[in-house]
Amino acid sequence: MMDVIPTQASHSLEYHITPEVGLMNDPNGLVYFHGEYHVFFQWNPTGLTHTNKHWGHVVSQDMLHWQRLPAALSPSKPYDKDGIYSGSAVVHDDILYLFYTGNVVKEDGCKESYQCLATSTDGRTFIKHGCLFPHPEGYTRHVRDPKVWQADDFFWMLVGAQTVSEIGTVLLYRSKNLFNWEFMGPFGENLPVTLGYMWECPDYLYFEETDVLLFCPQGLMQESHHFANIHQSGYFTGRLTTTGHFKKSAEAFQELDAGFEFYAPQTFQHQGRTIMYGWMGFMSPEQESALPTVYDNWVHTLTIPRVLKIENQQVIQQPVPEMMQLRSAYGSVDERLTEDKEFHFDQSAFELDLFFEKTPTEFCLALVSGFVLRYDAQNYHLILERKNWLNQQIELRVGELNEGLTHLQLFVDGSSVEIFANHGHLVFSARYFMKDGQSKQRTVRIEGERLAIHWHSYLLDTEAFMM
Ligand code: FRU
Repeated sequence: MMDVIPTQASHSLEYHITPEVGLMNDPNGLVYFHGEYHVFFQWNPTGLTHTNKHWGHVVSQDMLHWQRLPAALSPSKPYDKDGIYSGSAVVHDDILYLFYTGNVVKEDGCKESYQCLATSTDGRTFIKHGCLFPHPEGYTRHVRDPKVWQADDFFWMLVGAQTVSEIGTVLLYRSKNLFNWEFMGPFGENLPVTLGYMWECPDYLYFEETDVLLFCPQGLMQESHHFANIHQSGYFTGRLTTTGHFKKSAEAFQELDAGFEFYAPQTFQHQGRTIMYGWMGFMSPEQESALPTVYDNWVHTLTIPRVLKIENQQVIQQPVPEMMQLRSAYGSVDERLTEDKEFHFDQSAFELDLFFEKTPTEFCLALVSGFVLRYDAQNYHLILERKNWLNQQIELRVGELNEGLTHLQLFVDGSSVEIFANHGHLVFSARYFMKDGQSKQRTVRIEGERLAIHWHSYLLDTEAFMM
């Protein structure tokens, strides 16, 4: 244990939603209501363990200036006494409906889960209405994370589930009034039964080209460079049948993020856009308790908001254009690079936007020592190398590009990086920790062959991000 506790926040993030204290995980209840974006999130306000989960709450009019509010939902009832687990929101008749899973640990240690409802008319005070339906037969107590949307005269709900034979799946319910729900069986008509033992945080997206079922399967074995994290987050494309069930297309399960700790994403719709937040996030308990921010009494962050679209049956993720408003009026660099170069930043919140005139034969970008992004031109791979903060070992993640490297956009914020390659065809999320957590200095080094890069870098103006 370290015996000197730093008095200043260290490794802190300036333009991400992070907890002031405690442990954060999944984004929940993402919604636009009464002129505000609401982001709720899994939050243990009293410790750094995965217990005592509340719904933390922040609001914003523009996704750039946020206000912290008190926890929206806290464990208080017999059906949610051990945790307000993940869920979603819908607005109907000017009322905000929040759906969540109540987690209960019984005296004998057995656990139960209940799908519950709370409502609000002002987005500030919340009334609990209890559990919505009995536990479905044939499934273990791992039934959770209700995601609700409205379509074709019904409200629809997905919940992540596990069959009694320990197969991960997603269940479908429907309702006319948001209070009475009818069980419609498994959501998928032709989903594999070999994709892990539990599926968490399901989400359904509609696009003109295809529908998408997002979920987080647990228990996949690593296959080459795929499924390299502890648990995965990805999707099937497909179409809804006339009964509202999902028929997947021939495409394989695709991962959303090629980085290290991305997990439990959730989307919401606003003004024709599909916007996603994820949790940066999932790691082993050993790594979690060794996070340097533990000394400042908080852990984890959400990602920046990303707009989703579809191209060739693939989900493309791009930072919401609002992020460009953070670009500061000073300190930007605009340059054409044809050889190796170093750039110094004296703040740790910045954006890089690189356009490649021609695909390089060799290219690498080092952010800090032990954090390097390499391009493998032969295989169209991007390889992210990071020194793990727990054991100082170098670890790798490999992502496949759709074609040669043409574009890279990086959002660096304190101890986090999000990398969008070829305009969002490939994305990496990762935390990294410098030896000196107080230092805001960063040096980015570019090396390569056949370089012809339009380099734009921007310092980000983050002062008013969180109040
Ligand atoms: C995903 C998850 C959800 C659950 C929540 C509890 O990270 O395990 O399935 O509702 O976290 O915090």
